[in-house]
Amino acid sequence: MRTVTKDNITQAFLDYCSDDTEPRVRFVLEKLVSHLHDFVRETNLTHAEWRKGLELLEKTGDMTDPERNEFVLMSDVLGLSSLVDMVNSPDEGTPSSVLGPFHILGAPDLPVGGDMKQDNDGAAVIVKGHVRNPDGEPIKGAEIEIWQTADNGLYSNQDNQQTEYNLRGHIMVGDDGLYQFSTIRPAPYTVPGDGPVGELLRATGRHPWRPSHLHFIITAPGYRSLVTEVFPSDDEYLDEDAVFGVREQLVMEYVEQNDVTAIPDGMEIAERLQAPFFTVDFDFVLAEEA
Ligand code: BEZ
Ligand code: FE
Repeated sequence: MRTVTKDNITQAFLDYCSDDTEPRVRFVLEKLVSHLHDFVRETNLTHAEWRKGLELLEKTGDMTDPERNEFVLMSDVLGLSSLVDMVNSPDEGTPSSVLGPFHILGAPDLPVGGDMKQDNDGAAVIVKGHVRNPDGEPIKGAEIEIWQTADNGLYSNQDNQQTEYNLRGHIMVGDDGLYQFSTIRPAPYTVPGDGPVGELLRATGRHPWRPSHLHFIITAPGYRSLVTEVFPSDDEYLDEDAVFGVREQLVMEYVEQNDVTAIPDGMEIAERLQAPFFTVDFDFVLAEEA
C-alpha cells in the first residue's frame, strides 16, 4: 500500500503479514493492532502522551529483574492478568484467581490437621473443608498448596525475619477429600508502589491495597488445576482489590469461636490452642479435565 492513511493503516498492517503467518499469530496480532490503532484514533493520542506511554514501558523494563517482574504487576493492576485468567477458566468449579509473585516451590508437607501457625504471632484460625468434583463427591488424593502473609503483611520470601517456608504448606487429602490445618489470620498488604505501577496507581487516585487472603493451588489427576485465593467477608478492601482478584464465590467467613469444643477432631494444635480463635469452612470444587 503506497498511500497509507489513518483509515487504511490497520489493513496495511495485515497486508504486510505474509500468507504463511501462523494462523493464531496472525489472528492475535490482527486483534492487537486493530485495538491499538482504534485506541489512537479514538483518543487522538498526542505525541507527548505516546512518549509518556513508551517511557512507562521503559521504566517497567528497568524495574524488572529475576526477583521482581514489574510487567506482571502492571498487568495485574490493569486487570489484564485477572481477565486472562477468567477467559481461560472453566464455567464450573471454584473460580481461579491471581497467582501473585510470592509463590515458591517446595512447601513442606503438612498432614491433614497439621499446624502451619507454629510460633507466628496473629489470631489463630482453623481452616477446613473438602475438595470435591462438580457432582459434590470428594476427590481422593487431591493435593493442596497453601501460602500466606504473616501478621506483618509480608510473605516469607519478602522478609528475612521469617524462615524460608514460614506459613507455607502442602497437604495431600485422604479418601474423604477433607483438608484442615491451623494457621493465623493473614493481614492485608500493599502491592509494591515504588516503580511505574505505583506511579500509575497514584496518577489515577488508586490505593495499592489487596484484601487479606490465603493462596491455594489444588491439583488432582483427571481435574483442571486450580490456582486461587480465598478472602474474608469482613475485609475492608474486598470491593477494591488493587489486582482485581476477588470473586463472590471466593469469599469466606472467619467465625469467632469462644470455646475449645469448636476445635475439630484431628487437629495437631488442639492441646495448645486457647479460645478465642477463628474457624473457616471452605470447599473447593475442581472442574474435570477437558
Ligand atoms: C499476591 O497476592 O501475592 C499478589 C498478587 C498480585 C500482585 C502482587 C501480589
Ligand atoms: Fe498474596
